Amino acid sequence: MQITIPPDPPPIQESFKITDFESAETCKQCHPNHYEEWSGSMHAYALKDPVWFALHSKEQTHFQENENFDLGQFCIMCHSPIAFLTNTIPDPASLTLESSSELSSQIREGVTCSSCHAVTYASPTTNVNSNEGTLDGIEYFFHTDTVNHIKYGPIEDPIASSYHQSEFNPLYRESEYCMGCHNLTIDGIGAEMTFDEWSGTAYQAMGFECQTCHMESYSGYAVDINIEPDAPFRDNLHRHNFAGIDQTLTDFGEEDAQAEAIYQLLSTAADIAIVSEVPQYVYESDTLLVQVGITNNAGHNLPTGVTFSRQLWLEVLVNSGENTFYRSGHLNNNKDLYDFYIDPLEEEDPDLIIFNTVLYDAEGDSGLRNVSVERMAYMSDYTIPTNGSKIVTYEIPIPENMSNSLKFSARLRFRALPPFFLRELVPGADETKLTIFDLDSISIEIPIIQD
Ligand code: HEC
Ligand code: HEC
Ligand code: HEC
Ligand code: HEC
Ligand code: HEC
Repeated sequence: MQITIPPDPPPIQESFKITDFESAETCKQCHPNHYEEWSGSMHAYALKDPVWFALHSKEQTHFQENENFDLGQFCIMCHSPIAFLTNTIPDPASLTLESSSELSSQIREGVTCSSCHAVTYASPTTNVNSNEGTLDGIEYFFHTDTVNHIKYGPIEDPIASSYHQSEFNPLYRESEYCMGCHNLTIDGIGAEMTFDEWSGTAYQAMGFECQTCHMESYSGYAVDINIEPDAPFRDNLHRHNFAGIDQTLTDFGEEDAQAEAIYQLLSTAADIAIVSEVPQYVYESDTLLVQVGITNNAGHNLPTGVTFSRQLWLEVLVNSGENTFYRSGHLNNNKDLYDFYIDPLEEEDPDLIIFNTVLYDAEGDSGLRNVSVERMAYMSDYTIPTNGSKIVTYEIPIPENMSNSLKFSARLRFRALPPFFLRELVPGADETKLTIFDLDSISIEIPIIQD
């Protein structure tokens, strides 16, 4: 098949049918590595996630009962662009995980190969406005071609393929490519603003695009050379596992590879250090003062995106011998933190430090249980900004009759969801798959002087 220079400007297509797009299974035979990595990613899981279905149903019900307009395809538009563009799910309110099994595979594949590689121009930030009576306002610029099966991508000199025409598009190397789905405002309020958090920072200035950290480059063949023997060895291919923090909760395949990619990414995410002067010794019955500094090394806020459902927190333990005389950020028997949902009176863990956001609605109700992002009135933000750090001060009374020294240790811990929220949304879900990742840890020992 002929390789052509991209028509300048690429055409803008107004209407789409499902057959304009292929299932990822079509790409698998020639691009087995891309397929394998993508198949364990959250992009592949975006319309298979039981948490998504539960939240979606909850919000649809809320809108039907309480608001004077429809939620429409709001939750579908980023999670399955093909379903949105082809209007395949005319009654989103009745969609369930079970009924979704009847949808065609392109749609159930969520953010899939054939939609991502049909992109011709960047989608702008998605600004939805409830006064307009609908929330499904993403703008996609895709071009498909059922004869030549054109695929756009980052390779400047692609070889001809027996299946599809390839077109180079430099947009694929830029953060703008990710913007439409990863930058969302609702009635003018920033809701999930990963692109803006990155834009204008030193990361952008140094050429660290989203792809630099989330689509690591490697050398190899872009295609299976048994099928395409003329394919050249290339030194700038890109991983497609899109690791972040989130993991699949169902049996989805590629779990170990995905977990490994998350560990690797998170090992770069943040540092913690003791930033106050460490005393040479302390006295019994004194107060130990320790300041812990947390530095964000990610290309955006830490956490970013759906910050209201993330848990990033400091666990601090102070021991003397076998005796733990201070703790914060510890878990209860259900593996939940003593945050304001579990410990509203702050009795069990008054010092808990958790970096996330809290949503409030117009009535002042707050939290994950009551408010969802598309009907928030404001958001309070305790995330760590890009290139920023936070300092947390602990003042810890030292009891009497301790052994000769104390050990102060701190860990920065991170997980996608609080277990209580998962239990409420998806009864019976496998909570053991909700991994806690430790981003960094530190400890110091200080001698205790008996009075
Ligand atoms: C019959 C084999 C075959 C199939 C099937 C196939 N491709 Fe390709 N694809 C190729 C070859 C060959 C290249 C060029 C590789 C090179 O030059 O290194 C390529 C290149 C690409 C590129 C890079 C284009 C560029 O210029 O950057 C993308 C993107 C792509 N394919 C996506 C897909 C998607 C999505 C599917 C499934 C819908 C698919 N391919 C199915 C053979 C195939
Ligand atoms: C300098 C490297 C770097 C760059 C650049 C970067 N990221 Fe990240 N990203 C990370 C790290 C490290 C994490 C894990 C820590 C975290 O959640 O922030 C992460 C996490 C994420 C997550 C999951 C986060 C969560 O907290 O729920 C998303 C989504 C994401 N990034 C998207 C993007 C997008 C979109 C861009 C471009 C606008 C981008 N990233 C640019 C390093 C980077
Ligand atoms: C979220 C959108 C997205 C999805 C989903 C996606 N890709 Fe890509 N793909 C990209 C981007 C962006 C690049 C270019 C990265 C860069 O150059 O920095 C790329 C690059 C490629 C390339 C060029 C070679 C390389 O590794 O750079 C091929 C081939 C490709 N993708 C195939 C696939 C196939 C096959 C699938 C499905 C199994 C897939 N992609 C799914 C966005 C996506
Ligand atoms: C068509 C919309 C769309 C585009 C384009 C898109 N994403 Fe995503 N992305 C999503 C959705 C939806 C999810 C969450 C899926 C889920 O968890 O159910 C997601 C999840 C992710 C995650 C995992 C987050 C986590 O918490 O673990 C990362 C990392 C990510 N995207 C990076 C990127 C990067 C980098 C690009 C650009 C190269 C990009 N995405 C382009 C829609 C998109
Ligand atoms: C503007 C695009 C967009 C819209 C609209 C959208 N999402 Fe997402 N969603 C994303 C992206 C991007 C991520 C991954 C971001 C991250 O990990 O930080 C995500 C992640 C998720 C997750 C997985 C995160 C988790 O909590 O573990 C769920 C569940 C989810 N979305 C549900 C919904 C529901 C329900 C709606 C409608 C009320 C919705 N989304 C609307 C883009 C969108």
